[in-house]
Amino acid sequence: MATTGGITYTVAEFNTIITMLGCLCATIQLLTGYYAAYKKKKIGLLRSNEVLFRAHRAFGGFATTLYFLGLFAGLTGFIGAVFFNVPPFEGGSPSFNIHVWPSFAVMVVVIWKTYISYFKKKSVYKKGKWLGIATFIAWAFTWISSAFSYYLRTTPDNPQHPPPTYLMPIELLWLQLLWPFLWGFIIGLVIVRAADKLEKKKEER
Ligand code: HEM
Repeated sequence: MATTGGITYTVAEFNTIITMLGCLCATIQLLTGYYAAYKKKKIGLLRSNEVLFRAHRAFGGFATTLYFLGLFAGLTGFIGAVFFNVPPFEGGSPSFNIHVWPSFAVMVVVIWKTYISYFKKKSVYKKGKWLGIATFIAWAFTWISSAFSYYLRTTPDNPQHPPPTYLMPIELLWLQLLWPFLWGFIIGLVIVRAADKLEKKKEER
């Protein structure tokens, strides 16, 4: 943490924002993926429908980048906690344990989906249906557990960070947790409606 000219900068909070944006992108991915694979029962629309193709590409790329940025911070924090106790290794704390250990399973799911999405296209058309949903759940878990962990470390009895500057105050934690899902849903809905219009036009032809 550093303070310059009255502005406080904390790496942990920056990382929370990165995770929030990634979760927003993952929500958009869920909507476009769900529309193609479940509503239209044609996963190939993610390639053949111009709107879905562009959206799933763009937001998939953002979600991937944001995940790896967050993972980098998470892993360096983990190494610090294990070897130097900075940040403190809180093996007895439920919020630490709920966020840290399952994050390794999340990492496997996200890396798996990313790998097949970019390098094993045939496999993503087969497994994408359930692995896409699993990736969204993994992302949602990462956001909720990390934001919760962050906020708990700003309370007066555990002041590891100053109170949030860019995020909502702790009284609005519930809204802060919902925020990326809400925006992801709104943006995703706009994209899916545009994609659906295009499909209807194609069907009319
Ligand atoms: C039901 C949900 C989902 C389904 C069915 C699905 C399916 C697919 C398919 C079939 C592709 C290949 C498209 C192509 O031919 O280029 C793809 C690409 C991709 N997906 Fe998903 N996906 C889903 C959710 C997600 C989620 C939640 C994420 C990440 C948060 C994600 C990230 C990506 C990425 C990074 C790509 C590569 C984009 C590119 O080619 O540039 N997907 N997905």
